[in-house]
Amino acid sequence: MKAFAIEGAYGFDNLRRVERPIPEPRRRNVIIRVKAAALNYRDLEIVRGTYHTRFPLPLVPLSDGVGEVVAVGEDVSRVRVGDRVCSTFWQRWVAGGFEMAEPDYQLGGPFDGVLAEYARLDEQAVVPAPEHLSDVEAATLPCAAVTAWHALVTEGALRAGESVLVLGTGGVSIFALQFAVASGARVIATSSSDEKLERAISLGAFAGVNYRRQPDWANAVLDLTGGRGVDHVIEVGGPATFSQSLRAVRVGGQINVIGYLGGTEGFINPLDIFRRQARVRGIPVGSRASFEAMVRAIRVKQLRPVVDRVYPWTEAIDALRYLESGNHFGKVCLELSG
Ligand SMILES: NC(=O)c1ccc[n+]([C@@H]2O[C@H](COP(=O)([O-])OP(=O)(O)OC[C@H]3O[C@@H](n4cnc5c(N)ncnc54)[C@H](OP(=O)(O)O)[C@@H]3O)[C@@H](O)[C@H]2O)c1
Repeated sequence: MKAFAIEGAYGFDNLRRVERPIPEPRRRNVIIRVKAAALNYRDLEIVRGTYHTRFPLPLVPLSDGVGEVVAVGEDVSRVRVGDRVCSTFWQRWVAGGFEMAEPDYQLGGPFDGVLAEYARLDEQAVVPAPEHLSDVEAATLPCAAVTAWHALVTEGALRAGESVLVLGTGGVSIFALQFAVASGARVIATSSSDEKLERAISLGAFAGVNYRRQPDWANAVLDLTGGRGVDHVIEVGGPATFSQSLRAVRVGGQINVIGYLGGTEGFINPLDIFRRQARVRGIPVGSRASFEAMVRAIRVKQLRPVVDRVYPWTEAIDALRYLESGNHFGKVCLELSG
């Protein structure tokens, strides 16, 4: 089979097309023929070598894909040949708290991922793809969508009438916007681009704030909430945005620490958390149970992921470069033909 693997050293130049044997299913494994995949910021960092963990090489990257089950190993009972399934980010986090996740079992590093014609997955690490979604749409769910769902719904217990602040218009934030709107919450989005804010509003956001033109965007969020602040923050900016997120959250509100798009350096005064009585928690994607609950909601609401651009999978490097540009809105995907 054909695949892409990072070989020798990290860096775009070392992401190469390789020939590999089609994997054989071991006990309780399934083999999928990958039909589509989706990119996450983590994949970009892994390829560049800037991710906080350096996995052993060679490595087939990408955690998010959808495929048809073409072979099952001994004792597999959850799926059958012919099923269309999504991968899960965590190969062993079925349910419960993060202590159940087994940190070494992440797809796309350290486990070989789905940037390949075939992939071997644990039978516990697949979820049936929602029928109304195309392959490309279903491929967007495992990381970004589950992260947004886990933050707002599983951990955040989001309720109608609450307010949600999403930072930027990347994959996680746009899923958070969609789930929040579907739950009857009021969404405020920030973005570097007025055009992207218009798109966020067309998806149901109540208001947008351009963080380039309004560097003090927390004040704008406070104004938009009558001085109260928001109930939930999808914090993907990291140290560069956290202090403003703390100002934008209501007293006793929740901040989901998810990413660090603005960089890893910064200063946080814990007393500011105390003054705001904020509930701050890290979000590590989510369990399969979270994924399955999210899929039920996606089916009921007939939600469709926002796909910005689809590349043939052979142009994976161009697709990663496009993600790196930050010009996208929602998800960047790959399609495998044949
Ligand atoms: N903890 C977890 O489980 C988990 C899971 C998934 C992702 N993540 C992390 O979460 C972050 C987002 O991931 P993603 O896949 O959604 O990324 P993405 O799709 O690449 O998001 C990129 C977008 O983020 C916005 N952005 C960039 N810098 C920003 C800043 N300083 N302030 C506000 N917005 C900014 C930009 O939107 P505009 O152009 O609209 O400004 C940009 O287009 C990444 O750091 C990723 O590693 C963590």
